[in-house]
Amino acid sequence: MTTSDWPLELVVADTAALTAEIRSLTLKSIDGGPLPAFSAGAHLLFQVELGDGGPSPGTPEASRPGERCYSLVNSTDQSGYYEIAVKLETAGSGGSRFMHALKPGDRIRATLPKNDFPLHRDQHEALLIAGGIGITPILSMTAELSEQGAAYRLHYASRSPETMAYQARITQLCGERRHLHFDYGDPSQGMPLAEVIGQPASNRHLYVCGPRPLLDAVIATARALQWASSHVHFELFGAPLSQTGDRPCRVVLQRSGMTLDVPAEKSILDAMIDAGIDPMFDCRRGECSVCAVRVLSGTPEHRDYALSDDDRDHENLMCVCVSRAREGELVLDA
Ligand code: FES
Repeated sequence: MTTSDWPLELVVADTAALTAEIRSLTLKSIDGGPLPAFSAGAHLLFQVELGDGGPSPGTPEASRPGERCYSLVNSTDQSGYYEIAVKLETAGSGGSRFMHALKPGDRIRATLPKNDFPLHRDQHEALLIAGGIGITPILSMTAELSEQGAAYRLHYASRSPETMAYQARITQLCGERRHLHFDYGDPSQGMPLAEVIGQPASNRHLYVCGPRPLLDAVIATARALQWASSHVHFELFGAPLSQTGDRPCRVVLQRSGMTLDVPAEKSILDAMIDAGIDPMFDCRRGECSVCAVRVLSGTPEHRDYALSDDDRDHENLMCVCVSRAREGELVLDA
């Protein structure tokens, strides 16, 4: 991405430790003026410097450029600042370390707000489920729903009260509409999903944001309860791409006449872009299916949330932004 891809230059106005691992950052425009509007559920993409834990913001030595996506936490009518919250991922590639090292006065570039996780337009009853740092877009949604006087319930899960961010604000905002769940490291003590989700109805919409296991479990439970997919909205937090045990794979692009050796830590989409191909993509998180490509041979390991069983089994599509080869080689119609 070029500088023009990062139209916002923001200054860190404040930071605060919300838990031992989560910091909030308040960001303002350089001149103190209003910032572009956003809707609840929106995010910004930030330009970060990735390193091995060494470089601090503003010290690009031993670092490489990267990008990280963070949801906007604050209320949509607060145009003077953006608030984000960042969980420190000690095993990550350095993006969260970079964000945690930012201090008041530091500058950072970002894209304009984008929303892949909006509230449904029509009046409805909202069921909001958040896990861990996945509370960030959900918090902005609860503020908007509260402002509208809409019917909603929030179920928010964390390991323990000490690891849960924004408890006081949520209690103040949501009152008895908020339900907190702590499993203390024991998954069997987790949120009782079937009971929490309940029966579908034409005016009920479910919103879930959190780590992949929570997302998978909520989506599977909602499907089992016969919820229509159009009423289940989700956003994944955490890297959908890398999984323990990932291996390099070989991808043959039949129409392009190219063979790519894709390293374990790289997506097929990024390998295609690096090879000079111009594939279609949007979310890069397996949520939109814009990057879907037909598989001519080989067995993909599907990691997207966008394709239907029919798309996968009969149309032979795979989302190359997140999915990989289950084993061996993939031949794609690309
Ligand atoms: S770019 Fe959205 S699913 Fe791949």
